[in-house]
Order: sequence, then structure tokens, then C-alpha cells
Amino acid sequence: MTARFIVLEGVEGTGKSTHAAYLADWLAKQGRPAVTAREPGGTPLGERLRALLLDPGISPMPPQAEVLLMFAARSASISEVILPALESGAWVVCDRFVESSYAYQAYGRGVPIEHVRALDRQIVGKLRPDLTMILDAPPEVGLARKAGPGKRDRFEQESLKFFERVREGYLHRAEAGADRCIVVDASRELAEVRKDLVAAVSQFLEEKAVHDG
Ligand SMILES: Nc1ncnc2c1ncn2[C@@H]1O[C@H](COP(=O)(O)OP(=O)(O)OP(=O)(O)O)[C@@H](O)[C@H]1O
Ligand SMILES: [Mg+2]
Repeated sequence: MTARFIVLEGVEGTGKSTHAAYLADWLAKQGRPAVTAREPGGTPLGERLRALLLDPGISPMPPQAEVLLMFAARSASISEVILPALESGAWVVCDRFVESSYAYQAYGRGVPIEHVRALDRQIVGKLRPDLTMILDAPPEVGLARKAGPGKRDRFEQESLKFFERVREGYLHRAEAGADRCIVVDASRELAEVRKDLVAAVSQFLEEKAVHDG
């Protein structure tokens, strides 16, 4: 079995980080070592850009600047984390990837989708995830899970309307047949969602096994 690239997507609080860690563990227990990556971040450059992107003090940030910074962080993640891991034969479980740019910067912020597509071609190119799982829930469900005493970051401070556009963006992309995307109802209990994610990865493994003979 060769290396595989799995991505978790979805609005704030849908469980991406929680499930990414679980899936990486689950794969490792089956003898499939997995590296986790997160966006924006996961590299020295990416983490610095993440701090800027999430800082509510940086306002306004032009949407065109935001999309470029996201792809700059992604470019570092691809060359420093994702490709080396895949080349070493490890699996990669990524907490957000390029679908976030379509959903947040195009649908959420209004950056022309052609602009995102052009950056996708330029920066991501042929590196397509084998499976993207979109964790779908009404934004208020995810935001309530994240509600706490901590200060909200630049995205978490956005309006419900913004997150509704982002959610619709993910769903449109999945419906329009964006590469190997599935939608999972993440408004249910954590264990239920996890069961579906594991089933989706298992099914993918079985299909690959048949395909690879
Ligand atoms: N299905 C669920 N039911 C209840 N709580 C959940 C569920 N999924 C995740 N949580 C909890 O919600 C919180 C947010 O989850 P998590 O950090 O994994 O979301 P996230 O998608 O990574 O959010 P962000 O986009 O802000 O990084 C955590 O406390 C997590 O335990
Ligand atoms: Mg997270």
C-alpha cells in the first residue's frame, strides 16, 4: 500500500482537529504510520503566517491578501511536511487544505473563485488529496462548541452569515464534484461522526486494495 493523503474540512468547531488526531492514531495502529499537518501552519513560516491570519488586531485584512497568505502557508506545508511524508511512505492526515480556500476566501470573503482556482493550480498543482471529508454542521453548533472564556480569533469573530456562506461553499464544492470529497454530518455525537469517518477511510482502503490487486 502506497502513501495516502486524507483531509478534514469544515467550519469552526466541527471537529477537524479532534478527528484528525484520532484518524492518525487509528491508521498508525493498523501499521500505517501517519503524519498530521494543519493549515495554516505546521512549518516555521506557516505558524508565523497563522499568527498573522488569526490576529484580530490585523483588521482590515484585504481578502486578496488573506488568500495569498493562506496559499503561502500551504506552499510551505506542501514542500516541508506533506510531500516529504508521502515520499517516505507515510500517510498524511491534514487538518484543512485547499477546500478551505474555496469555502472561506471565495464563498466567505468574495474573492473571485477563478483567482482561488489559479492559486490552486499554481501552488497545489497535481497534489490532490485521496479523500477529503467535509464535516458539516450549522455554524452555530460548531461555534457553541468552541465558546469559552478565551479571546476569539479573527475568523471566530466573523458573523454567522459569513460562516453560513462558508458552509454553503463547502457543500457546493462537494456537490459540484470537487475531487474525492464526501460530506459527513458533524452535528451528531462525536462517536457517531467518528464511526462514519473511520468507515469512509476503511472503504477507501478496501477500494484501493482491490484496485492495487
Ligand atoms: N460531534 C461532537 N460533539 C460534541 N463535541 C464535539 C464534537 N466534535 C468536536 N467536539 C468538541 O468541540 C470542540 C471543537 O472541536 P475541534 O477543535 O476538533 O474543532 P475544529 O473543527 O478543529 O475547530 P477549529 O476550526 O476552530 O480548529 C472540542 O472541544 C471537541 O472536543
Ligand atoms: Mg482545529
